[in-house]
Amino acid sequence: MEYLTFALAKGRLAEKAMELLEEIGIGCDEMKEDSRKLLFTNEDIKCRFFLAKAQDVPTYVEYGAADIGIVGRDTLLEEHRNLYQVMDLKFGKCRFAVAGRADEVTDRLNSNDLRVATKYLNVAKDYYFNKKRQTVELIKLNGSVELAPVVGLSDVILDIVETGSTLEANGLKVLEEVCPLSARLAVNRVSMKLKYDRISEIIRGLKELCSSDDQNR
Ligand code: PRP
Repeated sequence: MEYLTFALAKGRLAEKAMELLEEIGIGCDEMKEDSRKLLFTNEDIKCRFFLAKAQDVPTYVEYGAADIGIVGRDTLLEEHRNLYQVMDLKFGKCRFAVAGRADEVTDRLNSNDLRVATKYLNVAKDYYFNKKRQTVELIKLNGSVELAPVVGLSDVILDIVETGSTLEANGLKVLEEVCPLSARLAVNRVSMKLKYDRISEIIRGLKELCSSDDQNR
């Protein structure tokens, strides 16, 4: 039997993703060991697993280096990769929002004279240029985006808000909601055909698990 390969986004989502997979019998003890290894195998069920930077997960899945990816909707929206987004895993819930110092920018939110800092340039282009039809200036940053309005680099940010504590700690407020986010299961288009039975069994298992989680809430 060929291996089924999973790419998991490093960080907040990986642990919960492995927990879910374990619950449907797709665990990997080797992954729990402390090592510098990057690829882990469970020979009993012919599965391989690796952790990658979130932005790279859709790339591994599109090219078929991973059959399945677990990654946030934020990354899928930003990366625009050619893959199947098969299900909402209902964890890692957060949202994209525009935030800034309410007293300084509220009256300029719809003007073209607005500077927006973000890690998510494609998401910001889509939101401002296509949805709002607003010609703002976009500034790409790579992290700690909340700093931008505080030090005067931008008027607002478009970023992920989960608990809201980073915004609050920096005197910023949500000014516009953009869209809800959560972890997604992504599948390579060719793998979906060639490994259909195994992949659909996984999807079925995860769907059952997610719907029973919903009922227990
Ligand atoms: C994310 C996001 C916000 C923060 C939101 O950053 O970009 O900064 O989490 O979470 P909160 O609403 O619960 O405070 P991340 O921790 O991924 O680090 P980064 O700033 O380096 O991108």
